[in-house]
Amino acid sequence: MERTLRKAPPEVREMFADMVPGFYQSEVMQRDEAVRSVGLSGMTLMLLVKDMGYDSCPLIGFDPQQVADIVCLPPDHLPLMMLTIGKALEPARPRMGLLDLEEFVSIDRFGNHPLRGEIDDSY
Ligand SMILES: Cc1cc2nc3c(=O)[nH]c(=O)nc-3n(C[C@H](O)[C@H](O)[C@H](O)COP(=O)(O)O)c2cc1C
Repeated sequence: MERTLRKAPPEVREMFADMVPGFYQSEVMQRDEAVRSVGLSGMTLMLLVKDMGYDSCPLIGFDPQQVADIVCLPPDHLPLMMLTIGKALEPARPRMGLLDLEEFVSIDRFGNHPLRGEIDDSY
């Protein structure tokens, strides 16, 4: 935390110094945060490289220990996802069997699908 906040104004550093250690005490919370951050930064990177004229592909089908060894990953870093970046040799396959937006977007509570006209106001 000291490293990531070193450029923050003193009042911000003070606020986080009180909050963060308690908030991230549990290893589950630490891991959840790592997974969230990887998802957000991975997607951002994919969009960024697309904008730069490249293609990308996320994958988890690798041996995490071997990859960690190859890239000398410190033991407190999790090899959660790999992202290949390059030029596609051929166009992506057509989408297959994915859900329509209306099916998986819930608003206000799970199962409330106003995008397809199902508004359950029985609660
Ligand atoms: C988080 C994540 C991990 C993935 N891991 C693999 C993988 O290990 N091996 C694989 O063949 N595809 C994997 N995929 C799927 C491919 O990245 C890709 O999405 C899939 O080949 C379909 O490509 P398309 O979306 O361009 O049609 C993964 C996808 C995601 C989102």
